[in-house]
Amino acid sequence: MRKLVIAVDGPAAAGKSTVSKALAARLGYLYIDTGALYRAVAWLADREGLVDSPGPVLGAMVRNADIRLLGNPEHPRVLVDGLDVSSEIRTERVSQLSSRLSAVPEVRGALLALQRRLGADGGVVMDGRDIGTVIFPGADAKFFVSASPVTRARRRYTELAAKGIAADPEQVLVELEERDRRDSGREHAPLKAAGDAVAIDTTDLDPEAVLARMLAVVESKL
Ligand code: CDP
Repeated sequence: MRKLVIAVDGPAAAGKSTVSKALAARLGYLYIDTGALYRAVAWLADREGLVDSPGPVLGAMVRNADIRLLGNPEHPRVLVDGLDVSSEIRTERVSQLSSRLSAVPEVRGALLALQRRLGADGGVVMDGRDIGTVIFPGADAKFFVSASPVTRARRRYTELAAKGIAADPEQVLVELEERDRRDSGREHAPLKAAGDAVAIDTTDLDPEAVLARMLAVVESKL
């Protein structure tokens, strides 16, 4: 059977990773969390003291780094130069930094090649902001997953609490909205739905219902 490229884009904490992982598991595909790549870049720039460096310096930093996504969909791991940074990249500091640095064209350019390589053979569910618009405009199936800001903030708050990370619910909402504004407003590869993406508002849908909708679309493409 043909192995598809499936693009799942949408704003922060919309539930993309939950449904993308489930979809990948169901199809026996690879799950690729492209946000983790931007988070890894932010973590590295922070460690190297390069967060305010010009674009070319950041681009070179990304090209010289060995960033890997390993593990299975249930236990994804992110390695930077051999170091497992899977937990470190989930902090609020890294969330905001990743959004800032992802607006830098040289950073996006350096990660574009890596993402296209990861999906080159098909059989992937790729979760991000510009997968259906820029990385794989010819993807076999495209989804734009969103939910109301309050719902997304509640989900992120619950997720952080489960990891033992203390957060203020109001602040989580403010930070998500700030990140969405920046991600949607940037000049290069802004967050937006591809014209041919299937939009799914998950505000009142549980993950099973979202998965069922996605599977119906994917099956029609196989
Ligand atoms: O998990 P969450 O939805 O909070 O964010 P993420 O998917 O881990 O992405 C973190 C940040 O990376 C986003 O706010 C974007 O600024 C950036 N990003 C991007 O620009 N392009 C992508 N394909 C994926 C993430």
